[in-house]
Amino acid sequence: MCDGVALDPIAAAEGTPLYVYSAATIAGRYRAIDEAFAGYPHAIHYALKANSTLAITRLLRGLGSSADANSGGEIDVALRAGFSPAQVVFTGVGKTTDELAHAIDLGVRMINVESAGELERVDTLSRERRVRTKIAIRINPDVDAKTHPHISTGLKINKFGIAIAAVPALCAHARGLAGVEVVGLHAHIGSQITDLDPLARAARSLVALASELAAAGTRIEHLDLGGGLGVSYDGSRVPTAQEYAAAVLPVVRESGLAIVLEPGRQIVAPAGALLTRVVDVKEAGGEKLFVVMDTGMTELIRPMLYNSFHRIEPVVERGAAPALCDVVGPLCESSDTLGKDRTLPRPEVGELYAVLDTGAYGSVMASNYNRRLLPAEVMVEDGKARVIRRRQTLDDVLALEL
Ligand code: LLP
Repeated sequence: MCDGVALDPIAAAEGTPLYVYSAATIAGRYRAIDEAFAGYPHAIHYALKANSTLAITRLLRGLGSSADANSGGEIDVALRAGFSPAQVVFTGVGKTTDELAHAIDLGVRMINVESAGELERVDTLSRERRVRTKIAIRINPDVDAKTHPHISTGLKINKFGIAIAAVPALCAHARGLAGVEVVGLHAHIGSQITDLDPLARAARSLVALASELAAAGTRIEHLDLGGGLGVSYDGSRVPTAQEYAAAVLPVVRESGLAIVLEPGRQIVAPAGALLTRVVDVKEAGGEKLFVVMDTGMTELIRPMLYNSFHRIEPVVERGAAPALCDVVGPLCESSDTLGKDRTLPRPEVGELYAVLDTGAYGSVMASNYNRRLLPAEVMVEDGKARVIRRRQTLDDVLALEL
């Protein structure tokens, strides 16, 4: 079930693989963050990269969220979902000149600048347009987020941000530039972080740097703490939004600066499930079975890319005897494994399964490898299921080809 609505008939009607989202879960998790920071000036800029299907983006806007966009495409999706440019923060390590010009023309709330070179580009583009663009400097605090190396961004070996030591001189230089105004400092040290200590340490670095800058004449307005707070994929206990706030608020409070947050996963990951049917069951040697699903790395690449764990459960309990299984996808590579060594009630061909907690970085990272078609997406809201994205057709795909 998803919020009291049975999944079996939805899968029968819409086919599989199929993403299903709970609007109530998204709302509840957004509010939990908002409430955790209530009483302190803060703005939540939902990180669209986690899931930017229009219906989800609109839902978050309706809840009062602002947006964090990582590309020109995400900026435009935010606008189409009804966000005003003033609600959009533009982040990202490789913003092209065209993307920067687009963001400046629109007048986004601010651009999180990732390098000295980008600062110059923003300044030049802004002066050409006779505007002054608000920017935040993304620092690299050299903090180990203790998450998977592929999604760790706050160490100096990572490509992100500017070394703290270089920021005071850069800000002094920026004060002489007519096209930019430094209004914030930004840090995002990684994703799926379940240890609050690195998050608090990054916040402390921002606060210390802000006071150093203030003493030198650059007065900023806010600290952008990024996203990164993890969720529980295996049922183990992870810090809540409340605990996260309790870890970073005391650190930031002394600065009196407003907080910007960019949560993605925290809001949408547990709100989504990927429904899939068993295509084949075959002997894997020994006691083990290969359970071949109709979904794989094309719809959910997280297990293959980060060795990440997602629970995989039958949608309907049949009471079958347990069997040791490797749950695999249909794609032509051995990395296409959704779950290794899982004990499942012995699966049957045609049976419906749910891959859980796939609302973040699931659908958005899907591909057409093997000429597979992007899955449909369904939202359950107020006791009803509705298609929010139809399944892609081969004609959709081939329409791009000349
Ligand atoms: N802000 C910035 C600047 C980011 O780079 C990210 C994520 C976020 C906010 C949101 O982080 P979150 O709250 O969702 O952790 N594809 C990977 C995750 C990549 C995250 C990239 N940056 C995965 O599936 O685990």
